[in-house]
Amino acid sequence: MDRELIAAATATRAFAHAPYSRFAVGAALATRSGKIYSGCNVENVSLGLTICAERSAVASAIAQGSQDFAVIAVVTAAKTPAVPCGACCQVLAEFNPQTRVIAATINGQVQEFNLAQLLPSPSAGILEALRDV
Ligand code: THU
Repeated sequence: MDRELIAAATATRAFAHAPYSRFAVGAALATRSGKIYSGCNVENVSLGLTICAERSAVASAIAQGSQDFAVIAVVTAAKTPAVPCGACCQVLAEFNPQTRVIAATINGQVQEFNLAQLLPSPSAGILEALRDV
């Protein structure tokens, strides 16, 4: 499964629109039942409008009716495996704060994390407080 997910993230990375940073990212999310949804980063000339690969994969999954995320793979050409940024961690935590995170490079380095390591207290965040309003 991990290998398949990394392959899906790698394939979608090829579609990244990253002319400004030249840092292409691919992500693939798997649900508990094994469905896979992938995404890539989509940059914009107005740089702040850039969408990360992980959030693009989340949007694809949600739009197709899946929310039960189990694991996400992220593939980059960085020297060492890169984990999702804080914003993406927060968005993933919305659905499963225990999501397994596989960070891989195109050269075959792989590191595994749990989202709770990368974003230890999502439920203590201000956004969580908003749920009670
Ligand atoms: N990027 C991602 O796609 N995911 C992350 O977790 C961090 C960064 C993208 C955004 C931008 O297009 C490029 O990588 C450089 O920051």
